[in-house]
Amino acid sequence: MKGLLITDNQEEPLLIADVPKPTFQAGQVLVRIKAAALNRRDQWIRQGMYPNIQFGTVLGSDGAGVVEAIGESVSENLVGKEVIINPNVNWGKDPKAQAADYSVLGMPSNGTFAEYIVVEADRLQNKPDHLNWTEAAALPLAGLTAFRALFHHGAASTGKNVLISGVGGGVAQFAFQFAVAAGCNVYVTSGSEEKMQKCLSMGAKGAYSYREEAWFTKAQKETGGFDVVIDSAGGNQINDFIKIMKPAGRIVFYGATNGTPEKLDMFRMFWNQITLQGSTMGNDQEFEDMVTFVNQHQIKPIVDSVRPFEQAISAFDEMKAGKQFGKLVVVFD
Ligand SMILES: NC(=O)c1ccc[n+]([C@@H]2O[C@H](COP(=O)([O-])OP(=O)(O)OC[C@H]3O[C@@H](n4cnc5c(N)ncnc54)[C@H](OP(=O)(O)O)[C@@H]3O)[C@@H](O)[C@H]2O)c1
Repeated sequence: MKGLLITDNQEEPLLIADVPKPTFQAGQVLVRIKAAALNRRDQWIRQGMYPNIQFGTVLGSDGAGVVEAIGESVSENLVGKEVIINPNVNWGKDPKAQAADYSVLGMPSNGTFAEYIVVEADRLQNKPDHLNWTEAAALPLAGLTAFRALFHHGAASTGKNVLISGVGGGVAQFAFQFAVAAGCNVYVTSGSEEKMQKCLSMGAKGAYSYREEAWFTKAQKETGGFDVVIDSAGGNQINDFIKIMKPAGRIVFYGATNGTPEKLDMFRMFWNQITLQGSTMGNDQEFEDMVTFVNQHQIKPIVDSVRPFEQAISAFDEMKAGKQFGKLVVVFD
């Protein structure tokens, strides 16, 4: 079968090659992948900017497909089922934080950028009926990360003022859609006028360009401040968020693309009872709850582009350029 591997070739570490079709054991299922989606993580791995890179691994954390075969002790009802795959590997018993041996599908274990994948049967959820294959493949990793950040750590609910920072991001777009569906007053920031306009047309109450120096003063004046900020850029901008939080507001971050802030306004944080909370992916129950929420609100992931699997490397180039709004998806015949 065809698969996309990470190799030690320094010029282009990604390689589409023939790899053995995986074999399955008791408790596992063989899924024929119909569509798979990129995450920033995949491009970090390509750039050598991810810990413990294991060359020869099939990349890809997001996938949707059809169960083709099952191992012993797996329900026969699963054969032929249309599914999406939970990208958590060994979250562990504590719902609050992942176990020490936790990992994400698509390194170290082989991922979804291949015609077939083998996973534990309990990784599967039914594909939401209202989603086509490309939309379904776009959902898992980013949907889960957004769901935990927004609802578990952010405690976002109807009527709360929620700011989604860098809304063009893969996770941020889900946080935006989920917050709108939950009845929050949703505001966004972006570096792109086009993405801001798109969000305004999809239910955002306001949009600010983080490229404008004093965007946060304007945002504070127009909104009265935020109960929740969801961010993955980090950097010195965290101090701007601290200034525009309502008392007891929560800033939740699941990435730090712009690094650590040089200083942190701790005085304002303690006086205003501000929480700065890290978050990563989500536990298995949250994955299930996220899919239920998507079904309940008939949410359709935003897909930027779809291309045949053979052209997957060009999707990585697009992710690197960062102009997309929505997920980059590849499909198999
Ligand atoms: N912890 C986890 O479980 C987890 C899960 C997924 C991702 N992540 C991490 O989170 C980060 C984003 O991931 P992603 O998949 O959403 O990536 P992505 O799709 O590449 O998103 C990057 C986005 O960051 C935004 N951005 C750039 N500079 C910014 C700034 N100064 N202020 C605010 N936003 C800014 C841009 O938004 P605009 O286009 O709107 O300008 C851009 O689209 C990455 O570092 C990734 O590794 C972590």
